[in-house]
Amino acid sequence: MRKCNKSMLINSFANQQLVNCMPKPKIYVTRELPERGLNIIKKYFDAEVWPEYAPPPKNVIIDKVKNVDALTSLLSDKIDGEVFNAALKLKIVSQLAVGFDNIDLAEATKRGIYVTNTPEVLTDTTADFAWTLLMAVARRVVEADKYVRSGQWKVAWHPAMLAGRDVYGAIIGIVGAGRIGYAIAKRAKGFDMKILFYDVVPRPEIEKDLGAKKADMDTLLKESDFVSIHVPLMKETHHLINAERLKLMKKTAYLINNSRGPVVDEKALYEALKRGQIAGAGLDVFEQEPTPLDNPLLKLDNVVVAPHISSASLETRSKMSEMVAENLVAFFEGKKPPNLVNADVLKVKPPSKLI
Ligand code: GLV
Repeated sequence: MRKCNKSMLINSFANQQLVNCMPKPKIYVTRELPERGLNIIKKYFDAEVWPEYAPPPKNVIIDKVKNVDALTSLLSDKIDGEVFNAALKLKIVSQLAVGFDNIDLAEATKRGIYVTNTPEVLTDTTADFAWTLLMAVARRVVEADKYVRSGQWKVAWHPAMLAGRDVYGAIIGIVGAGRIGYAIAKRAKGFDMKILFYDVVPRPEIEKDLGAKKADMDTLLKESDFVSIHVPLMKETHHLINAERLKLMKKTAYLINNSRGPVVDEKALYEALKRGQIAGAGLDVFEQEPTPLDNPLLKLDNVVVAPHISSASLETRSKMSEMVAENLVAFFEGKKPPNLVNADVLKVKPPSKLI
């Protein structure tokens, strides 16, 4: 390693490969990330990558963070006070996901640790998947697939065979009209749907651009044929969709959730489906993930399920990994990372050239 002189240190982080005069910051990467981001991380950091498909156990994370400057995380890694207590040198957690309810932001902020996420690049992919669930459950695609493969298709055509519900022209109620909610509405417009939305903050753009109508929660639930949930998981949104609210929905309506599992009370949802209070559900997220095989929802034909894959397209996952790396590089260059989620940390520790 060459000795650093002042001119080498100018912009030295980005040029480190060329300058190669100082040690790279250490990072622990909790899963093999898509190549695009991982290659950047390996170029600029002294990286250790957890090699297995399943997440590292908590004690491994606690052990690994002791000596690192940075950490990447996935939504299945719980990054809480216990982890931060062990992480004496840790400066940033760069999460590959838009949601960050797995990270204790308050604990990070008070220690001056930056937390970043990967918004926007996954908006359309995630909205596409909510629509995939919506179409699949309304038009009974999974049932139809099983019907053909299991040899039940014995009569060529019958007017009642696997009849579902129309999507075009129906009423969609979007709970949470942020970026993903907006993208859901954009797609709904193409299906000539009436669009209702509920949000705790004003969303003039969805009204102006797409003609969506703001509604209170009860009205949205009472009037919609499809209710699609797009809120983050917070104290306020835990079991937002509960037994009382499910009772307000039409018997012919469907619930779609690809936000976070605990936003919907799963037991109440099962009861509502079993009693025919609503027509079906499309779920990409569960209160416990992976959901246990004995989850009664898995026994119902009018429920279409997926294993939390809404942003899982090759293109999007690749872009997300690049954002994980970009957030890290910006931080170590002394800039505010583009996708900082705990802005209050700037007051605790303003960005500075750290190396
Ligand atoms: C996925 O659920 C994400 O938050 O990105």
